[in-house]
Amino acid sequence: MGVAAVLPGPADFAAWRNAARGLLAAGVRPEDAEWRVAGDAPGLFAEDAPPPAAGAAFHVPRAFVELAEIAIRHSDPERFALLYRVLWRLTHGEHALMQVATDPDVVRLSAMAKAVKRDAHKMHAFLRFRQVETEAGTRHVAWFEPEHHIEEAEAGFFVRRFAGLRWSIVTPRRSVHWDGQALSFGPGGRRAEVPPDDAVEPLWRAYYAAIFNPARLKPGAMRAEMPRKYWRNMPETAEIPRMLAEAPKRVAEMVARGGSAPNPNPQRPRHLAAASRVAADMDLLDASTDPKAALAALARELAGRNDLPDFARRATQAVFGEGPIGAPLFFVGEQPGDEEDIQGRPFVGPAGRLWNRALGDAGVPRDEAYVTNAVKHFKFAPTGKRRLHQSPDAGDIAYYRPFLLREIGIVGPRLLVALGATALRALTGKAMPVMKTRGTIVDGPEGLPVFATVHPSFLLRIPDQDGQQREYAKFVDDLRAARAQVH
Ligand code: URA
Repeated sequence: MGVAAVLPGPADFAAWRNAARGLLAAGVRPEDAEWRVAGDAPGLFAEDAPPPAAGAAFHVPRAFVELAEIAIRHSDPERFALLYRVLWRLTHGEHALMQVATDPDVVRLSAMAKAVKRDAHKMHAFLRFRQVETEAGTRHVAWFEPEHHIEEAEAGFFVRRFAGLRWSIVTPRRSVHWDGQALSFGPGGRRAEVPPDDAVEPLWRAYYAAIFNPARLKPGAMRAEMPRKYWRNMPETAEIPRMLAEAPKRVAEMVARGGSAPNPNPQRPRHLAAASRVAADMDLLDASTDPKAALAALARELAGRNDLPDFARRATQAVFGEGPIGAPLFFVGEQPGDEEDIQGRPFVGPAGRLWNRALGDAGVPRDEAYVTNAVKHFKFAPTGKRRLHQSPDAGDIAYYRPFLLREIGIVGPRLLVALGATALRALTGKAMPVMKTRGTIVDGPEGLPVFATVHPSFLLRIPDQDGQQREYAKFVDDLRAARAQVH
């Protein structure tokens, strides 16, 4: 005779755990347990046994609990049974089961958790609110169709992100409501109940059209990342057919212009215009919710290039920037040195230590500074045991420039600070004399201001101490002046 465990909701981990405890304590084997969600049709067992009372506590590996908490949100009706079978095995002599990555149950559980996480990511990136005027004031309403039972689990994300708004998210199975103070959940709804249009949509459309880079058009990847079912909820995707049609023409224009796209709307704030244009691909959809994910995607993209310069293949790794998203000051050096190449972090060698000290003396707090390089790989000549730094040439700078520009777009700084000639060239797109330009502001990508100063390694190369001190003081003055620009 089987035993039915009836759960109050489809993704209620605490309830599943309680029921599982009871079944386990009663010695109910996995094949004898029937799992159901209250309200679903009864299964094969003629008689429902009452849900077993909570039994004795059991200890299972953390890895199982972490996976189970996520996998239970999967829409596969077999998930509860699978979780119970794994639990049974863990508590019946297979305590190390979670380490057997090839075990079919473990593989399935991991795949479920992964699918749930992916669904959550899509919800973060593709959900769009529409503004609705009600008698009680403005409310934002979104329709979304998740694959899995993620509404409750992801509600917190939207509370953190839109704490100041009153909003509702409606899905076919659930609705989530935030009134500015408290969350509540209700039954699902229908798409037709969510207003199709509002005044905010033209803005989204304009924004999306502006960030779209036709040269990087990958319709297959676009569809895989953003299935059509999400498109129809996203006002900006109304622009997709037009953009696809215009892509070849726009690429030709960009090539003719040397890679920079036209500014469709000079009225937009400089900062937004720059950020949106240079960020330039579908990763920006991530960036709108998770800039760190967009930076990671950028690094992956560089690693996947098959036309990297030879020196990049000799380097240990690409080194991207470091610092807070939204830092007002964005420092650009030349390229990673020997230590940076090994550690995978910018400015951690001698020049970096000097820059750090000068930053402190100039009173620039670390959370105001993001630091990166124009060239992302260490270029060196392998001479015996030592790796001798080689300066990047104009071709190297041009190769990495799109990555630098997109990094800027993701971080969204107010002022770019060029440390030395390579950075100045990468940021302005042309060769400029550093000593004549230092301390002044010149035009950077998309009109973002660039403040020029020397590279800290220039100070390290000064032979006499007096000269060193004099130049150090000037460098600190420059950093102070840069800071004053954003305060
Ligand atoms: N010099 C640079 O320009 N960048 C680094 O990251 C280190 C040294």
